[in-house]
Amino acid sequence: MRALTVVPLQAGSAALIDMEEPPESDGPILVETLAVGICGTDIEILSGAYGWSPPGRERLVLGHESLGRVLEAPADGPVAKGDLVVGIVRRPDPVPCANCAVMEWDFCRNGQYTERGIKGHDGYLSERYRITPDFVVKVDSQLGILGVLLEPTSVVAKAWEEVDRIGGRAHWAPHTVLITGAGPIGLLAALLGVQRGLEVHVLDRMTEGVKPDLVRALGATYHSGPVHSIGFNPDVIIECTGVSSVILDAMSNVGVGGVMCLTGVSSGGHEINFDEGAMNRSMVLENVAVVGSVNANRRHYDSAALALAAADRDWLAGLVNRRVPLEKWSEALTRNDNDVKVVIEVNPEMPTST
Ligand code: BGC
Repeated sequence: MRALTVVPLQAGSAALIDMEEPPESDGPILVETLAVGICGTDIEILSGAYGWSPPGRERLVLGHESLGRVLEAPADGPVAKGDLVVGIVRRPDPVPCANCAVMEWDFCRNGQYTERGIKGHDGYLSERYRITPDFVVKVDSQLGILGVLLEPTSVVAKAWEEVDRIGGRAHWAPHTVLITGAGPIGLLAALLGVQRGLEVHVLDRMTEGVKPDLVRALGATYHSGPVHSIGFNPDVIIECTGVSSVILDAMSNVGVGGVMCLTGVSSGGHEINFDEGAMNRSMVLENVAVVGSVNANRRHYDSAALALAAADRDWLAGLVNRRVPLEKWSEALTRNDNDVKVVIEVNPEMPTST
């Protein structure tokens, strides 16, 4: 079968290769991959900046935002032949640490977790893969191809859960949320904010095009200047750019008693002149909480599945706005300003959403 692979930490090493069929030891559920979304993490891996191959192997199969169809499954399991499914990305560490032991692998404490398509475990960008029942999530068949958005939605479902839990340290009735960054993560975070009944604002550097249109179609407000110029201090900020200047601007403008959640992974190496003392003062005097959030556990995939099922399908379809066949994979790796979620179609018979 064909698989898109890379030699981690080696730029320009991506190659579509022929591989053995997935071994039965990977799990009793056999899945044919339909589509895989490409995100910033994949681009980092492809640029040679991130990623780990499986032990004893040179190449890693890419792909962690998957959508597949079950080909074979045990009779008494959670999924059956023909179901649309998504594979969970992270696997608990083998020790396991206290969090992995209770299936909260997204909070792994010893760093020995693995991630499919990212860290020490082949991803889903192969024509077929095998998986165990506990790491597969069934997707509403009506979502069709849009089920490929489940993994990024799980990441923002976790971010929102962190915001809610931290906000709940005192009386918590947030009214406004600012999302910085109108990429897929930012737009999905905005969707969940709207579903919570909040007044949602999204800020991005683009001044026109698909992103502002998608924000307005959600009923949210779009901004393209600096955070401090939006005219109010939001109760919640979900940071999805990873850009230092945006992060610091946002951190200095969280509302009193508010919560800011960081989801963007910065590349590092950017030093900026900044008044940390002033920021410290306002964060202390206003009980501001800033929290980082990565990955997602099964609870987050389940709440993400509900959020996607409740979302407007046409709006979601606007997010998946470029599809590239597997043979032309390299076209998926260059980004255009109006790309939101680019997906590689592994199987040309793509299920449609209804
Ligand atoms: C993935 C997460 C993963 C993180 C760090 C993100 O792109 O969505 O599942 O934990 O990268 O590797």
